[in-house]
Amino acid sequence: MERVMKGVKRLLGEVDIAGDKSVSHRAIMTNAIADGDAKITNFLSGEDCISTLNIFRSLGVDISVFGKEVIVRGRGMRGLRAFNGVLNAGNSGTTTRLLSGILAPQSFESAIDGDDSLRLRPMKRVIEPLSLMGARIEASGGNFLPLKIYGRRLHGIEYDMPMASAQVKSAIIYASLYADSESVITEKVKSRDHTEIMLKSMGADIEEKDNVITVRPIEKLVARDVRVPGDISSAAYFLVAGAIAPNSEITVKNVGLNPTRAGIISVMRRMGADISVEEYASGGERAGDITVRSSELSGTVICGDEIPTLIDELPIIAVLACMAKGVTVVKDAAELKVKETDRIDTVYRMITALGGKIEKTDDGFIIEGTGELSGARVESFKDHRIAMSAAVASLVASGETVIADAECVDISFPEFYNILGGLHE
Ligand code: S3P
Repeated sequence: MERVMKGVKRLLGEVDIAGDKSVSHRAIMTNAIADGDAKITNFLSGEDCISTLNIFRSLGVDISVFGKEVIVRGRGMRGLRAFNGVLNAGNSGTTTRLLSGILAPQSFESAIDGDDSLRLRPMKRVIEPLSLMGARIEASGGNFLPLKIYGRRLHGIEYDMPMASAQVKSAIIYASLYADSESVITEKVKSRDHTEIMLKSMGADIEEKDNVITVRPIEKLVARDVRVPGDISSAAYFLVAGAIAPNSEITVKNVGLNPTRAGIISVMRRMGADISVEEYASGGERAGDITVRSSELSGTVICGDEIPTLIDELPIIAVLACMAKGVTVVKDAAELKVKETDRIDTVYRMITALGGKIEKTDDGFIIEGTGELSGARVESFKDHRIAMSAAVASLVASGETVIADAECVDISFPEFYNILGGLHE
């Protein structure tokens, strides 16, 4: 489906943002292997999280859905049942990688597959550490879906993460719960820690010191209700829209503010955005309301430890950079190449199509802000974050923008276009 979008005079209003994708996945998975029932509220019903939900149903978990409320009846750490078929992870890397860590120590065999994009994404990064723990996993060419996982007894490992990836880290953590000795995982740069927070709240023996995580095996997890905060990666589109559209003010309510995810706020502040955060006590994950107003922006450098805290926001930050004065440099972000698309390339193509000045590099991009974009036909490459970034760009672009395969936003944010439409005057 193509979607035609036009510039706006201003954007005003309040947004109740969809639930966090990372936390929604983990709320299903972790409660599925816990003892007891749990209620998940503000669950994200995007396609990726539905893939996780359906897979755990296939593995024998009773899950009821009432709109954004989900009840998971946990089967305990050893209670999952073999599925006599292929588990379909759709477009979701998080589903595939975290699930691999849960299935590797089970007493049965499993097979995982996904869509064309997921079949191109590297799985060796989880196969390697899990194999070091004693897992037996077969993959196409040793690296790609479909995966065949032969459940085995695992032992703990000491593992230095070669890249900043919460998906890989989480797979090792889940597997370590089942191992016969402790695991020590060291990260060079800290990645999102939702798995650690949730598992600890459910009785797991996990210690974190600086960037070293120690996980000791346990016998059981206790089911726990999860109130999913709004997704800061989804909020990011509205934060940027409010900052670049003229005469605008947008408040995004109940946004997750976990510091391992909140890099976009510091980058926007550094670029001069008029942005204020009102945090409130929420228990578990931090959350609050964020208000942004039209702003005079200038370029910045985004690199190093900051990258994992905003990795999924880099496509929309590229749009922000086009509307800022001066140069914005993004480096140390080679991980962009292995997302739903090669996002160094797809960001470059999107910005170029819209008349922005962008240069690709090996580990990021450089944008010279011109303060203007021009409407055009933009390929989304079926990447939800490219489609949403192009939609925000269209609000300030001259003329008409046509987004190809615009419905791919359903992966993480099915209500995106409706909410955006509701902010136009
Ligand atoms: C995610 C981790 C990140 C992120 C993805 C969700 C998670 O991926 O890009 O959208 O929920 O753990 P990596 O682990 O590959 O960095």
